Amino acid sequence: MNFKRKILCIGAGYVGGPTMAMIALKCPQYRVTVVDINEQRIREWQSDNLPIYEPGLLPVVKEALNRNLFFSTEIDRNIKEADIIFVSVNTPTKSFGQGAGMAADLQYWEKTARQILANSDTDKIVVEKSTLPIRTARAMERILNSNDRGIRFEVLSNPEFLAEGTAIKDLEAPDRVLIGSRETEPGIRARKELVDIYANWVPHERIIESNVWSAELSKLTANAFLAQRVSSINSLSALCEKTEADINEVAYAIGTDSRIGNKFLKPSVGFGGSCFKKDILNLVYICRSYGLIEVADYWESVVKINEWQEKRFVQNILVNMFNTIAGKKIAVLGFAFKADTGDTRESPAIYVARGLVEERANVVISDPKAIINAKKELFDINACVTYEEDPYRAAEGSHAIAILTEWAVYKTLDYKRIYDSMEKPAFIFDGRNLLDHKKLYEIGFNVFSIGKGPLKHI
Ligand code: UDX
Ligand code: ADP
Repeated sequence: MNFKRKILCIGAGYVGGPTMAMIALKCPQYRVTVVDINEQRIREWQSDNLPIYEPGLLPVVKEALNRNLFFSTEIDRNIKEADIIFVSVNTPTKSFGQGAGMAADLQYWEKTARQILANSDTDKIVVEKSTLPIRTARAMERILNSNDRGIRFEVLSNPEFLAEGTAIKDLEAPDRVLIGSRETEPGIRARKELVDIYANWVPHERIIESNVWSAELSKLTANAFLAQRVSSINSLSALCEKTEADINEVAYAIGTDSRIGNKFLKPSVGFGGSCFKKDILNLVYICRSYGLIEVADYWESVVKINEWQEKRFVQNILVNMFNTIAGKKIAVLGFAFKADTGDTRESPAIYVARGLVEERANVVISDPKAIINAKKELFDINACVTYEEDPYRAAEGSHAIAILTEWAVYKTLDYKRIYDSMEKPAFIFDGRNLLDHKKLYEIGFNVFSIGKGPLKHI
């Protein structure tokens, strides 16, 4: 079949895989290939056992696979053939040298840019899909256009706003698609090419065009604002615990103000995920590098409150269980950073599990989708932790349960049966305010939640 254009995506992870599957599904006239250095990942994308758990993803991949969606490890050949190259390789926080622990590590990005340059013999559009520091496009343009073969590269920024667990819904009906380019004639032409792709299923009024720097910064800003809301509500959950106010009631009351809105006001043990912390620290680092110290400090406090909230949760468990949990069995229900994903990156459960193990508790971890990743996260303390997929077995004989992910299944467990199987006094620490606390209290539990007074029998 003759395709209108050949699209390539470098990086078959949480962003690249689902995004390209959706583009292929909606645009059969484009050939879409996704490449990765990880052979196993590429094999899994072509199987019924996808490398990531995402509701609704499998049927989308299956419909387009081998029609106009292909997965491959042949990066060089596919670069050569492509007209439009999306780059969604990982950009973790730098772990060494200047900016360690803050700045984005751009080594995979730069390596990819050089690989694109080395394997191209025609003009191409290169699209930043990964979240990147503002002005990365300039570095990319410099590398790519350093060739003396007359090949032109246009670098666009098209950040992805999908959230894990709802990726398919977010891709199918996005609030907006943002495409930034240089405001030059070739830049605008390249931008139009990308608009044409999305216009196959996204209404025009939802496709926002901007300059390339605004697009890059908008992605960091969106994540910073979302995380800020969670930290704001979490900071006040601590005040509620001291004053008999109820954070759920406060969140509801302020959320009905249409200027504030009711989303992202759920109090929790803390936010996790691969983006929020990484992107805010990246923003903080950039602000500092421009001498904007007050701006940097302002945003850094969002991450600090989150770390404090995780710490507070562990301290609450310790203090309320008579200041010792050594030798006590504690069942951690939920390890994923949120429900409906197997992803555990930056999950608050990592900090909590480590904190409990440090206090010498016998930690049992249960999760419907994230046990494999949990084992990887806790690789160095696996001797002190056990894993049990069945929540009833995880809770059996335990002194306390800690709910760390809002999996729907945890709402429907038989808590009377669980209570009967536990040591007494039995404690429950609900890090997601997920359960019916009054009912648990009536069963006999001592109930501790986020931003509400405890319900105690002791
Ligand atoms: C986020 C952004 O939402 C998305 O637009 C961006 O592309 C990537 O980063 P994601 O990390 O997948 O997506 O999950 P999100 O739903 O934003 O949740 C992040 C964390 O905040 C989770 O740990 C979640 O449990 C927590 N959270 C979210 C709260 O604690 N309370 C809330 O009210 C909302
Ligand atoms: P994200 O959540 O941003 O999608 P992931 O870590 O899930 O991040 O995915 C990034 C993918 O990029 C990984 O599968 C990784 O193997 C791949 N990758 C990293 N560097 C390269 C590279 N130079 N060429 C091809 N793929 C790469």
